[in-house]
Amino acid sequence: MPMSKQKLMHLVGFSLWSPSAHMVGAWRHPESHGPGMSWEGPEVWQRIAQDCERGKMDAFFFASQLAPYGVYQNSIAPTLRDGIQFPTPDVMLLLPMMAAVTERLGLVSTLSTTYNHPYSAVRQFSTLDHLTKGRIGWNVVTSFQPREAANYGIEPVPHDERYVRAEEYMEVCKQLWASWAPDSVVEDKEAGIWADATKVHDIDFDGKYYKCKGPAPVPPSPQGTPVLFQAGGSGSGRDFCARWSDAALSFQMNVVQMKAYAEDMSARAVAAGRRAEDLQKFFGVQPIVAVSEGEAKEKQQYLNGLVPPDGSLALLSGHTAFDFDTLDLDAPADEIPDMPGIQGIWGAVTSLADHGLEKMTIREGARAYGQSVLMPQLVGTPQQVADELISLWEESDGDGFLITCPVRPGGFGEFTDLVVPILQKAGVYRNDYAGKTFRDHLAQTDAG
Ligand SMILES: Cc1cc2nc3c(=O)[nH]c(=O)nc-3n(C[C@H](O)[C@H](O)[C@H](O)COP(=O)(O)O)c2cc1C
Repeated sequence: MPMSKQKLMHLVGFSLWSPSAHMVGAWRHPESHGPGMSWEGPEVWQRIAQDCERGKMDAFFFASQLAPYGVYQNSIAPTLRDGIQFPTPDVMLLLPMMAAVTERLGLVSTLSTTYNHPYSAVRQFSTLDHLTKGRIGWNVVTSFQPREAANYGIEPVPHDERYVRAEEYMEVCKQLWASWAPDSVVEDKEAGIWADATKVHDIDFDGKYYKCKGPAPVPPSPQGTPVLFQAGGSGSGRDFCARWSDAALSFQMNVVQMKAYAEDMSARAVAAGRRAEDLQKFFGVQPIVAVSEGEAKEKQQYLNGLVPPDGSLALLSGHTAFDFDTLDLDAPADEIPDMPGIQGIWGAVTSLADHGLEKMTIREGARAYGQSVLMPQLVGTPQQVADELISLWEESDGDGFLITCPVRPGGFGEFTDLVVPILQKAGVYRNDYAGKTFRDHLAQTDAG
């Protein structure tokens, strides 16, 4: 155990249920979804779940959204042609199939507070928490794409108002989850009492955005509430995350930015009346591992070569809500202002210039975005990748990493077989699960 940390590194597998996830074009890799599998699954996702559980990961996490990106060239055609994070089937329906072939792995779905009523969210997550015996997590998003609003027939909700609504939303959820006392179900067959009605109550929530009678439609589940994840990047997003989440997620290019994010989120958690350590911090990384450094670099070059320039611009335009087709792509990257969508993305892209991409053009910045959505690519031998993870973990003061693998399902098994044993040997990562629920895994401090 390193002296600087009295806790374990946490790892969470990370992807989207779509042809490619965080590397545009990865679906074209000869080993993607093969042999005999398809991205729709379920086989590919069941195999990934088993591989992540073999690697003793805390959970597998799905991001998702509710519309194709359509900002670039004001069209969804590039998104469809390159299979960019779309189509996007309903992950809530996939999770039980992944749960059925695993016993410990946590399973996280994204659900938008803008397009689902809190009563439905509580019903779905509590049901899944029962079905999985306490392994469910929820990535709480407020959704940022105008096309998502259009699919639900509403006007886009302005940025800060989305978070105000989400605040009320989580309050409804909290009250619903508390509407059954933990000991309200007695199942006394002799006395003929299934539940003690004095311990289950209406919530009569009457807010600005939501009304809800209650009680919750599902009795208390093993975890009580799902593990809550959030990834807001703006000030209001970060504050919301600090108030409600068990874990904060972020893409940061390097250890300096990771550390700054972890410090900021800790300060916000404390300002919200919590302890800094009550909010765990996770950073996305994209490992590219091979037996020799040379092979790993070749692998990286091959993978990055699959990334279509237009597709990168389409993903970037979707995330920033700004059409990059309107720009001179050979202009210096730092000459354009920040964008209206997910905050801070372009600033982060231009900061790549600090890492060897001096005088980067917009085209080059977009390309880097399409390769990993700004997650660091960790390239090397298993030992090099493990060493880099340990050093990022120790120096950033984060809790763990979201591991995204461009080639699915194989990348996750490869990480488990090659990198995890080195982390275990270094004493920074669990040898086995100490508990049963996802919450247990996140709280685990002993390698087992
Ligand atoms: C790791 C990570 C995962 C995310 N997953 C999703 C997602 O699945 N769906 C979504 O709509 N937004 C997702 N986002 C975007 C944010 O949750 C958030 O909506 C976005 O950053 C806009 O809010 P902001 O302006 O507060 O940053 C993700 C962001 C990060 C960093």
